Amino acid sequence: MVVLTGAGTSAESGVPTFRGSDGLWRNHRPEDLATERAFWSDPQLVWQFYTWRRDLVAKCLPNLAHRLLADLERRVGDFCLITQNVDGLHQAAGSQRTIELHGSLWTLRCTGCGQRWEDRRTPLPDSLPVCPTCSALARPDVVWFDEALQPSILAAAVSAAGSARTMLVIGTSALVMPAAGLPLIAKRAGARLVEINPAPTPLSDHCDEVLRGPATEMLKSWVERFAPWGALPGGLVLT
Ligand code: OAD
Repeated sequence: MVVLTGAGTSAESGVPTFRGSDGLWRNHRPEDLATERAFWSDPQLVWQFYTWRRDLVAKCLPNLAHRLLADLERRVGDFCLITQNVDGLHQAAGSQRTIELHGSLWTLRCTGCGQRWEDRRTPLPDSLPVCPTCSALARPDVVWFDEALQPSILAAAVSAAGSARTMLVIGTSALVMPAAGLPLIAKRAGARLVEINPAPTPLSDHCDEVLRGPATEMLKSWVERFAPWGALPGGLVLT
């Protein structure tokens, strides 16, 4: 079983989606700030944007959808969660086998030597973060709009999608490649595609099942009603 999640999965935790009406920060669209070009032209502004996002996410808790997915991982032998989210809420809910396609807000990367390290401080100090080893400017270890995904991470996601028997696609507008192509890879390889989203997406017509509604409610009812892998020992714990 493979799951692909997007920003909608964290919406009920209070994390704004990218393309929703709440996606703006100080009248900037994320597409204008989340680029390497924006970073080098104004690192202070881009770090202010990421500091705001880190502070916001730090106040959010995983929701029922995150917890159900962590529970599925424990109960389904062959399970892979691929997320486009950088908020770390899947891991906070207990997910372990997670592919973070777009990186993480909680990891920084040196623009000089490339070293990565975890930094969970909120707020970050006012001065721009620098590498502990070479003192070069640090950046968020996320994939920006003008950047490619890490090849090894993309390869792992493509491989998981290609071997899926069931793929759940939750809370993504399915507009951003290559993530949006993963469900189609799964479909071509024979997987059953299930979409959970309150709004239609370009993927909807390719799905075997579409659940229109919020992730928490829809995933709960899907899990309760439909277990494509067969009966689960002890039943699912829905908290
Ligand atoms: P988007 O903001 O594009 O889409 C969010 C989706 O979540 C929409 O389709 C909404 O209908 C849906 N949604 C809203 N509330 C929901 C809820 N309660 N339950 C379920 N779904 C809900 O976010 P992504 O598809 O994740 O990339 O965006 C993909 C990528 O584009 C992001 O990872 C980011 C972005 O710009 C990078 O930063 C590289």
